[in-house]
Amino acid sequence: MHLYAAPLQGYTEAIYRNAHAEIYGDGPDRWYTPFIRVEHGEPRGRDMRQLASPLNANHRLVPQIMFRDADEWEKLVTAITETTDYREIDMNLGCPFPPQVRKGRGAGLLGRPDELARIAELMKGHPEVTFSVKMRLGITAPDEWKAVMPVINSMPLAHVTIHPRVAAQQYGGELYLDDFREMTAGTPHPVIYNGDIATPADIDRVASQFPTLAGIMTGRGLLARPSLVDEWREGREWTPDERLDALMRLHSRVAEQCEQTYQGETQILAKLKPFWDYILPSLDRRTAKAIKKAVTLPAYYRAIESVGSE
Ligand SMILES: Cc1cc2nc3c(=O)[nH]c(=O)nc-3n(C[C@H](O)[C@H](O)[C@H](O)COP(=O)(O)O)c2cc1C
Repeated sequence: MHLYAAPLQGYTEAIYRNAHAEIYGDGPDRWYTPFIRVEHGEPRGRDMRQLASPLNANHRLVPQIMFRDADEWEKLVTAITETTDYREIDMNLGCPFPPQVRKGRGAGLLGRPDELARIAELMKGHPEVTFSVKMRLGITAPDEWKAVMPVINSMPLAHVTIHPRVAAQQYGGELYLDDFREMTAGTPHPVIYNGDIATPADIDRVASQFPTLAGIMTGRGLLARPSLVDEWREGREWTPDERLDALMRLHSRVAEQCEQTYQGETQILAKLKPFWDYILPSLDRRTAKAIKKAVTLPAYYRAIESVGSE
């Protein structure tokens, strides 16, 4: 079973991925970049700089693109193939953010099979690239995939990653596993499952529930428990001390890189604090509050010292 790290905008950026690869053993088989998009008619500079970061050298990385139409798709694919060595590209058909969906990006494309058919044609012009798709079941109803799957099935894809929710649910609520099963059975592409994997036992459960899966992708679960993939590979849960020790080393590395990369306390803290977003619920209230409220680096580091000592 291959295990993949999901893209999370604002979280799984180069600094985090690099530090994770340094601290944890084999880690995920692949990381996916948060989506790279077009801004003012051009591939966004910040996204392309993230892709060119030397920090990406220690882990296997696949760029992900988010686009509204064939024109944006072509711009992004051309920018990646002409300016980088990446030859795998993941296509975002799942972003549920309403302004993007309304413009037809992310999950918005699930309602536009004609535009996807145009993109399928363009893919023929890039035989050097291995494409994959990351998608949801629909925008508002969990059977909308039925209308769009024929065109996705016709694309030359390495795999399809499916988050079995609809865009209207954002990131919570029921997982439509019956639709997921039906969709998996009806596609020739290898399928990767994505959604609510939080523990090694969750990986085992999903793997046995869906034995034909090519892989499992985890996002928030990996941020909350960065040892998740290593624990599963080792076939044993780490002790709380082992997990805490590795987590604090991960944090130190991320903090070091943030201090080197960004200027000024405010910006450094803005980049650093999200490290805790998915971990906070497992911390005691006082520590969580002190981390959230810290406005200077000394106050922040003091708050961090009490993680695990409660
Ligand atoms: C804050 C946040 C940012 C995300 N950014 C992206 C993104 O850039 N590209 C993408 O395909 N999915 C993105 N996702 C969706 C995740 O990759 C994943 O599909 C989703 O969180 C469900 O998996 P999980 O339950 O393992 O987290 C994002 C999710 C969250 C919560």
